[in-house]
Amino acid sequence: MSHSELAVETLAVREGIHRTPFGEHSEPLFLTSSFVFDSAAQAAARFAGEDDGFVYSRYTNPTVRAFEERLAAMEGAECCVATASGMAAILGCVMGLMRAGEHIVSSRSLFGATSQLFNNFLAKFGVTTTYVPLADPEAWEAAIRPETRLLFLETPSNPMMELADIPAIAEIAHRRGVLLVVDNCFCSPALQQPIALGADIVIHSATKYLDGQGRVLGGAVLGRRSVVLDPLTAFLRNAGATLSPFNAWVVLKGLETLKIRMDAQSASAAALADWLEAHPGVKRVHYPGLASHPQHALASRQQKSGGAIVSFEVDGGRERAWKVVDSTRLLSITANLGDTKTTITHPASTTHGRLTAEARASAGVTEGLLRISVGLEGLEDLKADLDRGLSAAR
Ligand SMILES: Cc1ncc(COP(=O)(O)O)c(C=O)c1O
Repeated sequence: MSHSELAVETLAVREGIHRTPFGEHSEPLFLTSSFVFDSAAQAAARFAGEDDGFVYSRYTNPTVRAFEERLAAMEGAECCVATASGMAAILGCVMGLMRAGEHIVSSRSLFGATSQLFNNFLAKFGVTTTYVPLADPEAWEAAIRPETRLLFLETPSNPMMELADIPAIAEIAHRRGVLLVVDNCFCSPALQQPIALGADIVIHSATKYLDGQGRVLGGAVLGRRSVVLDPLTAFLRNAGATLSPFNAWVVLKGLETLKIRMDAQSASAAALADWLEAHPGVKRVHYPGLASHPQHALASRQQKSGGAIVSFEVDGGRERAWKVVDSTRLLSITANLGDTKTTITHPASTTHGRLTAEARASAGVTEGLLRISVGLEGLEDLKADLDRGLSAAR
């Protein structure tokens, strides 16, 4: 049976299994920094790349490879290269594929560290970036120059839950001879498969939903073998931003429950978004699963559900928003997302606090905005926790 015939939840538990002679049922964890050769000749052949056995865990490791195979199958990608974190995946993608003088077109709404990487570090080495509105394909096309190499986007965006039309932007990328890179952190392959929608490369912060339980850092770059494998492997091998075998094992096992977690967390998020929209203390809810979301039709085509992140605005700016946060007893006040524990964040004073007021305003991040990453707690418990906050705010 080929991979494309199997459901993502089947691949999540059955792909990437290479049993040792011990016949273990659960995936083994190879905690070893190097591998032993039978002879000097075998060592030489491995180093020369003539024998594809393992050499050293900075290059790769059987547990890391098992994670790569499983995630590649789930994303419908030819290959996956695992990295130490989501940021290492983005850095590896740029370092492996670009050279000085080339150019990126990126969505303006972008994870903070990604824009810092583009603006403060890549720029030092002659790679420049032009930012465009995520949802405006014409602006993407207009920003492409002869030296453009990558179009880079996150969809849905953080924290406004705005969407990019992946097939429309992929069509522009391919017509203009550039690669489309999609950071699929918010949806994961359980809800959105960018490669099937036309993207060339998918980036993951495995730290988020792939682990799903807030335990380890990890990342991945996925795509066609001819585009991704050699440049990324060569970069990581020499730069060292490799995924550790232990973290690979944790995320490999995390993938097994990805689909059921995403389904349950998305269902709770959808119910919470409905409830928030009807709440008198809430001014506006940003959630692609709501009929009131301006891109609801696109979300229904492109994603299997609205996802597990909901943002909403309260009246009364920062003071009221902070009161909502401080009145919760159950939700965790932390900027992380994708955990089984529900988290609440005030973006204007945390994740987006370093932006200028103008940049925040143009990103739509108001002082009254709150972002929730919905976990696996009972829905009524979450509502009660937020209701206390929202009532206190009023
Ligand atoms: C959309 C997105 N991309 C990339 C990253 C970076 O991932 P990591 O923290 O694993 O480096 C994050 C982290 O929050 C993120 O939200």
